[in-house]
Amino acid sequence: MCGIVGYVGSSKKSANSEGEKRAVRVVLGGLRRLEYRGYDSAGIAVLAGSGISSRKRAGKLANLELLLDSDPLPAAAVGIGHTRWATHGSPTDANAHPHLADNGGLAVIHNGIIENCGPLRGRLIDGGHEFLSETDTEVAAALLAENYRRAAESPANGDALAVAMRRTCAQLEGSFTILAVHREHPGLIVAARRNSPLVVGRGDGENFLGSDVSGFIDFTRRAVELGQDQVVSLTADEVVITDFRGEPAAGTEFTVDWDAAAATKDGYPSFMAKEIQEQPEAVRRTLQGRLDTDGSLSLGQLGISDQTLAGIRKIIIVACGTASYGGQIAKYAIERWCRIPVEVDFAHEFRYRSPLLDDRTLVVAISQSGETMDTLMAVRYAREQGATVLAICNTVGATIPRESDGVLYTHAGPEVAVASTKAFLTQVTAGLLLALHLARLRKSGPPLEISAAARELSRIPEKIRLVLTTEDQIAALAESMAGERAVLFIGRHVGHPVAMEGALKLKELAYIHAEGFAAGELKHGPIALIEPSQAVVVIVPSLAGSPILHAKMISTIQEIKARGGRVIALVEEGDDVTGAWADALLTVPSTIPLLAPLLTTIPLQLFAAHLAGAKGLDIDQPRNLAKSVTVE
Ligand code: G6P
Repeated sequence: MCGIVGYVGSSKKSANSEGEKRAVRVVLGGLRRLEYRGYDSAGIAVLAGSGISSRKRAGKLANLELLLDSDPLPAAAVGIGHTRWATHGSPTDANAHPHLADNGGLAVIHNGIIENCGPLRGRLIDGGHEFLSETDTEVAAALLAENYRRAAESPANGDALAVAMRRTCAQLEGSFTILAVHREHPGLIVAARRNSPLVVGRGDGENFLGSDVSGFIDFTRRAVELGQDQVVSLTADEVVITDFRGEPAAGTEFTVDWDAAAATKDGYPSFMAKEIQEQPEAVRRTLQGRLDTDGSLSLGQLGISDQTLAGIRKIIIVACGTASYGGQIAKYAIERWCRIPVEVDFAHEFRYRSPLLDDRTLVVAISQSGETMDTLMAVRYAREQGATVLAICNTVGATIPRESDGVLYTHAGPEVAVASTKAFLTQVTAGLLLALHLARLRKSGPPLEISAAARELSRIPEKIRLVLTTEDQIAALAESMAGERAVLFIGRHVGHPVAMEGALKLKELAYIHAEGFAAGELKHGPIALIEPSQAVVVIVPSLAGSPILHAKMISTIQEIKARGGRVIALVEEGDDVTGAWADALLTVPSTIPLLAPLLTTIPLQLFAAHLAGAKGLDIDQPRNLAKSVTVE
């Protein structure tokens, strides 16, 4: 949610090795990689000998690029850039960042929400300040300017911008990452963070800032994750970190273990198309070193002792969006194999419903980005209440795993498309690994079934590959349905969360009204929606693995057909019953029922992507969405 980039080089380097456009080139490159975080407007400010110059435009980054072609920025060694997901104020040129203050001497970009911006704005207006935008960011800029003027009066404050930033942060409430440059401090960016991510990239004679490492991955892999409530002063040669009181502090150093190519489309028409194809490999990486083909399991250092896990009496899984459906699938496996009650809650609901937690409760927080604010707040709440928190996360070093007691990384690699695909499959895989691990620790559940599930899980990447070979059939079906106004999805057991995920994908990508229901619930209300030719995607339980549920689903299909509905059935290989009732039949390889979502989700991802493609929509950046939602 909002992408932030900063760059400080030396003017020497700028002139000699990269030409005079180094700052603009680096910042723009970073924004291209971070555009997935928000894309309703973008802007850049550079700090050159002549002071601050900025350009900003509503709409996608391409609009800013066009503006820069016709009205280029001056040569500079320092720049900051922003790609926005609107919170305060609609996506207009005026509301785009950077925002200027101090008579154009100060430029600020920001990610997050400043919750007390109303009263601050009122006070600043009373003091004579004139605002040009509706944003909370401009309030922060004005406040920073006010604090800067005070700090700069004292000769003792050589680092007046950092002093002002610390004072400003102490006055702000909410979540923020703020970057600032000032014309009186050439060669310096000062940045701060609270509840919103910021990473420093260390280069050679140049340094970088990014909302995440993809902001500078083309230039360096040496990174420093800033801690909560820290301020960093960045020059070409130095990175100085303090807390909000000015005491020296340190971030967490790490080396980025994926290369820049991992975040390119690599010849695919979209990131989503590429990420769907990467799923066999992504799941294999999640299993690697943890599960052998003979079913032996070792989760290594989870960060939570076996003794604690063995004593757990209740599990609550918290997550948002697609990740929450991953949690619902894990619930079925954990309850069956581990005999521990599991609740699954949207993170934003969990925290405000007074959940019952104690030191024998395990809270599992699932998040691809590890930065989703709702999920982070749920983690903090759970720990305050004495629960143990395990993160299932794809982003090494992100805030959620850092603030949890333990972490199980999914290792899906960078996921850029806003709609989650490979991250979801690896979250489901991690949930199943956790269930197997807990079952063995606690010696619970049916042992033969659990051993068979572990062996079968190791074979899943190959079966995912087989599902992907059916893409042409799914594409043809999706293209024939591009005019659909509403699509229903139904499933039973683990097919229920799969149905909800299929519906979410279609909503997100194709802007078609879609709902996922538990199939058994259809007759209790939603069946009223079935009218002639209403399309219903049915995730049919395995005939061999769940014969009772299969038979019930056939009855439901008949009820839909009797009312004129059109059935698109997703069945397991060997199902020779459903075809007689279905208008279209999609088949996945057979597996054991609890693992089926790892296969049945994929046709639904492909369906949504091809249907959106047939409608000419932007698959990677659907309207109004952002990949990483860092506000509550
Ligand atoms: C946003 C994204 C979803 C994602 C959800 C949770 O809403 O659009 O695709 O599932 O956030 O994100 P997380 O990073 O916590 O998994």
